[in-house]
Amino acid sequence: MSAAPRCDETAAWAALAGHWQAHGRDFDVREAFARDAGRVAALSFESPEVFADLSKNRLDTATLHFLLDLAHECRLEPRRDAMLAGDVANPTEGRAVLHTALRAPRGAAPFSDEVHTTLDAMLAYADAVRADEGITDIVNIGIGGSDLGPAMAVAALAAFTLPRQRVHFVSNVDGHDLAPLLARLDAKRTLFIVASKTFTTQETMANALAAREWFVQQGGTDIARHFAATTTNVKAAADFGITTTFGFWDWVGGRYSLWSAIGLPIAVAIGSAAFRALLAGAHAMDRHFASAPLAQNLPVLLGLLDVWYRNFHGFASRSIAPYHQGLKRLPAFLQQLEMESNGKGVDMAGRALPLATSPVVWGEPGTNGQHAYFQMLHQGTDVIPVEFILVKTPAHGLADSHAKLLANGLAQAQALMLGKTEAEAAAESVPTADAGFDRAVLARHRTFPGNRPSTTFVLDALTPASLGAFLALYEHRVWTSGALWGINSFDQWGVELGKALANRLLPRLQEGPQRGDTSGLDASTAALLQRLLGSA
Ligand code: F6P
Repeated sequence: MSAAPRCDETAAWAALAGHWQAHGRDFDVREAFARDAGRVAALSFESPEVFADLSKNRLDTATLHFLLDLAHECRLEPRRDAMLAGDVANPTEGRAVLHTALRAPRGAAPFSDEVHTTLDAMLAYADAVRADEGITDIVNIGIGGSDLGPAMAVAALAAFTLPRQRVHFVSNVDGHDLAPLLARLDAKRTLFIVASKTFTTQETMANALAAREWFVQQGGTDIARHFAATTTNVKAAADFGITTTFGFWDWVGGRYSLWSAIGLPIAVAIGSAAFRALLAGAHAMDRHFASAPLAQNLPVLLGLLDVWYRNFHGFASRSIAPYHQGLKRLPAFLQQLEMESNGKGVDMAGRALPLATSPVVWGEPGTNGQHAYFQMLHQGTDVIPVEFILVKTPAHGLADSHAKLLANGLAQAQALMLGKTEAEAAAESVPTADAGFDRAVLARHRTFPGNRPSTTFVLDALTPASLGAFLALYEHRVWTSGALWGINSFDQWGVELGKALANRLLPRLQEGPQRGDTSGLDASTAALLQRLLGSA
């Protein structure tokens, strides 16, 4: 396929820049609502399991037309189709990108036989673990994509889990992660899953070795029963002594791997039928992404909005506000998905990018975030688009709590958009505690600029299917902005340098002849090393 142009090298980009000057720069969402009674309808989108209201954003249908022209000129549809068909979409690693094949029905995507044979085996094992009365604790040892997706999903789907079994996640090489957990576990009743695509990651290997050592110290002998591995490196798992291994393939990126054998802890937690529902939800979103016209294609529209915000409005960050406690790990998961994918500074051809790429993605569940950093979102000097995720029906019976939760989510989006003028603030009765402070000055402190953008997603309920669809939506959205920027969203060379330097520093911190050696180090690192070793 011939190369697609980078977004900033198109005629559509120049047209979009003109639109920005004329209409985008000073866009006021409140005025847009006043102008257009059909705004909510025009900017509300249905997709499988996920409804999205984009109307509180700084754009209108005219902006969307310019953005859609950009998508067409950047050949988004043929590039999407090529990726879904298994073309090498990750050229710097020479790999296809086919996490979508992991959730496709048998026969509907490349590598179907391998995928379904492994899935069936993994799910049969997961159900056997669930039925095993002797196993009470499952410990997933993995990091990055081998941790964040499963940990997030198991927390999100807590309502679907067996109360008898607990699923734990250990990721950090910091012993403060593993040690307190081991202190609470009974080796005879514990299953360790060593999750690592490469089976070489320092943190995971260190934790897996420590867990095995602990298991043996506790008198454990049956490694086959108490250890399993999920990896593309089946040989390394066997060398480690693990005989129960579920494999996957190099065309599954780490941050896209929860749908593969890496999802084993999810399958143990929720069972095979629910895991299949998770895959089906994601597949429904894949079909929407693959076939909906771009003007109705929610992941594409979100990716276009991301480009509009990052490159024209200059918004450097996006805050995720899931109004569901189960989604407490979603921001961390999305950080890896978006920032590891699109935190790149050169395009596919290796040219330095003249435009900004991944924003900082961050957040906390509502309402907690409201009592921490929402002050800045409302009145700070940066404009930070917020994504509210609201769930219509909760998994608990505390109806009043849920009404309060939803009222807060809606109110925050409203407050960000509407703001409060100085005149409105001045007209308010001021608490007696404020007496003595100049009322006009006080009104300025109590003013909200408004016109702060947000997107609101609504799920009917947080289920395996809706979670699957929502995550797939996000994956494709990240691909969309990455494709427009002309970057490779599927490699992660930026994590390698730190890993290599840590390996060189390690012997200088461990017992042995190199301990304390600062030769060849920069002055700062040398001084810090000495301080940490007590020799400063
Ligand atoms: O640190 C980068 C990274 O390669 C991530 O992309 C990946 O998800 C994580 O490390 C873990 O890798 P592995 O599954 O091979 O242990």
